[in-house]
Amino acid sequence: MKAMVYHGPNDVRYESKPDPDLHHPDDVILRITCSAICGSDIHLYHGFVPDTRVGHTFGHEFTGIVEEAGPGVRHLARGDRVVVPFNISCGTCFYCERDLFGMCENSNPNSEIASGVFGYSHTTGGYDGGQAEYVRVPFADVGPFKIPEDMEDEDVLLLSDVFPTGYQAAEMGGIEEGDTVVVFGCGPVGLLAQKSALLMGAGRVIAVDGVPYRLDFARVYNGAETVDFRDHADPVRHLKELTDGRGPDVVIDAVGLEADGSPMHDFLGRLLKLEAGAATVIEWAIHTVRKGGTVVLIGVYGPPWNLVPIGTAMNKGLTFRMAQCNTRRYMPHLLEHIREGRVDARGIISHRMPLSEVASAYRMFGERTDECRKVVMYPSH
Ligand SMILES: NC(=O)c1ccc[n+]([C@@H]2O[C@H](COP(=O)([O-])OP(=O)(O)OC[C@H]3O[C@@H](n4cnc5c(N)ncnc54)[C@H](O)[C@@H]3O)[C@@H](O)[C@H]2O)c1
Ligand SMILES: [Zn+2]
Ligand SMILES: [Zn+2]
Repeated sequence: MKAMVYHGPNDVRYESKPDPDLHHPDDVILRITCSAICGSDIHLYHGFVPDTRVGHTFGHEFTGIVEEAGPGVRHLARGDRVVVPFNISCGTCFYCERDLFGMCENSNPNSEIASGVFGYSHTTGGYDGGQAEYVRVPFADVGPFKIPEDMEDEDVLLLSDVFPTGYQAAEMGGIEEGDTVVVFGCGPVGLLAQKSALLMGAGRVIAVDGVPYRLDFARVYNGAETVDFRDHADPVRHLKELTDGRGPDVVIDAVGLEADGSPMHDFLGRLLKLEAGAATVIEWAIHTVRKGGTVVLIGVYGPPWNLVPIGTAMNKGLTFRMAQCNTRRYMPHLLEHIREGRVDARGIISHRMPLSEVASAYRMFGERTDECRKVVMYPSH
């Protein structure tokens, strides 16, 4: 088959590799119908994720049609059309039984760090991802979600990750009616966290980014107030001024380890790699939020310690919530939001390309050129 193949930082190619096959009776093989590139893939692409091996295929946001089902699979059959959560979850372990699918302890030998994830290095199990013509899906009765006949692949594609992730971020914020919520990041995750905060009753949503076209879209898509952090020498002070001097009730970090805006964190985290990426937004979030408020981290960081003002957080009595998304748990509910027209998840998608152009798709999304928000790639088969 043809697939995206990793060769090293900033070097991904469209190449032939062997078709996947069934490893276990509970696997299915999916013929991919479309797959997206995520901000998390850009961390891999830039070489920030340990044990990303040459030959690995990325891609954890995809839809497909069952080509072959193992003999143990009960709920799926050849021809079924599904959207698949990015986490690989067994369905029966301690965590899966509690709907904490992102913490599954049976799908990754390194499960203390994370569950298995499609196309996300050997740190999360080494499973090849869906930026390919075919993919192997383990525990196929657990994750894959059948797409209703009246819905198209693109309508539900973002249920594989960024919509549940944005929604869980807002949920972890414990938003109460009328709350003020600041969301750092206007990528797909940030946009859907903003949307979800409004669905949950937020009175004000202030969206922060440093890329003007993304801020413009946050205004159009969510009616958010926006702040370009590049316009302010001290973005924290500006955000406090906008929120009665006290700060917002909830701050969500939807940026993660490649944050811009602090030469110190850039140098220590991204260049020297002495901390797990640039901890800029964690620091800004702690200082911005009001006392007694909640900070939610949904942006991805590596495991090592970050230079974050933890003493300030303690003195302010903050609540921290953070997690990998428990994607599967939210899919049925969020599907209804899409179906009822309350959320146009498809509207986030800005570019559609053939999978053969995967190298330029990564460049464009990674460098945020051509007003790119989300790229969906179609294999030619
Ligand atoms: N926890 C999870 O389950 C989960 C799932 C999906 C994605 N993620 C993570 O969420 C993050 C966002 O993903 P995405 O797909 O939206 O990525 P993205 O790269 O499209 O968006 C990140 C945005 O942050 C902006 N930004 C950079 N520095 C900033 C700063 N200092 N303040 C405000 N904005 C800043 C960028 O301009 C960009 O628009 C990534 O870290 C990704 O890995 C986590
Ligand atoms: Zn993703
Ligand atoms: Zn499990």
